[in-house]
Amino acid sequence: MAVNLKARDFLKELDFTKKELAFLLDLSRDLKRARYTGNEVKQMAGKNVALFFEKASTRTRCAFQVGANQQGAGSTYLGPDGSHIGHKESIADTARVLSRFYDGIEFRGFEHSAVEELAKYSDVPVWNGLTNEWHPTQMLADFLTMIEHGRGKSVEDITYTYMGDAHSNMGRSLLVMGAIMGSDVRICSPKHLWPPEDVQDSAHERAEESGARVMLTEDPDEALPGADFVMTDVWVSMGEPDSVWNERIKLLTPYQVNSAAMAKTGNPHAKFMHCLPAFHDTDTEVGKDVAEKTGMDQGLEVSTEVFNSKANIAFDEAENRMHTIKAIMVATIGDI
Ligand code: CP
Ligand code: NVA
Repeated sequence: MAVNLKARDFLKELDFTKKELAFLLDLSRDLKRARYTGNEVKQMAGKNVALFFEKASTRTRCAFQVGANQQGAGSTYLGPDGSHIGHKESIADTARVLSRFYDGIEFRGFEHSAVEELAKYSDVPVWNGLTNEWHPTQMLADFLTMIEHGRGKSVEDITYTYMGDAHSNMGRSLLVMGAIMGSDVRICSPKHLWPPEDVQDSAHERAEESGARVMLTEDPDEALPGADFVMTDVWVSMGEPDSVWNERIKLLTPYQVNSAAMAKTGNPHAKFMHCLPAFHDTDTEVGKDVAEKTGMDQGLEVSTEVFNSKANIAFDEAENRMHTIKAIMVATIGDI
């Protein structure tokens, strides 16, 4: 059966088949190539998209705005204080109003139920730009980047290890996405920071269909050997209180991606990935503050050395946010 994603929402990976996600990855690659060769065709001419951000963003916001613009569409950015949503107007009413103006709505928020509610009442596609639970647009960028840097390996042959806070959006999304796509996925974290049981169950179910190998472990010595890609994310996510920093540092320091961790892959070609922003030195307020309190002045979730090494492909990954987000918009509201 042909893949047709027209008018579909893009809320979480589990809503999609492997074939549909593979289609979006192919489309991303095609759009990237068209951009690089000066052959981009505007498939969203005359459209408009609304971009809601209840949390801060650099990559996701810019990827939607630039991607829409390159495709001929207009965009409206609404920041945390930029609309009545949630304060004076319900999510449902906001969705009903915006559907009259826009062809698609991006939403970054806290509880995943909010983006589900928006999609329920919207007549136009809703795209999840990150919730506490899922980060699906990031997954397309991560997979496109792994395919590009995978030395010819197919997604089914790629092995990746995610180290650190695995109960957050990135841990959950990486577990589930790899399970759907048929990859070798290793999630390495203290047990009480693993994705919740229902997410683990869904991952195991999808792995049975796809042939994915799924490992959840507390032991880096088990998770790292043979990895093509080693990934991590911030130890405290947006929306979590600062008070959890101390506990996270204590729990997650053994899971820092440093040179010793990279060496444990046994793979001289292993690459480092991070959705960004990353705490890899003391050049940020948080990085400096934590360094002053703990003495960790050589990075938190990733060491300064690994971040500055040739193994780091996080900036290719960041660029791919744009090509993949463009693909999601083109596939769901574009003239294809
Ligand atoms: N990776 C990511 O989502 O980055 P932003 O928070 O800058 O959008
Ligand atoms: N887990 C991080 C991802 C940031 C892109 C957060 O939610 O803050």
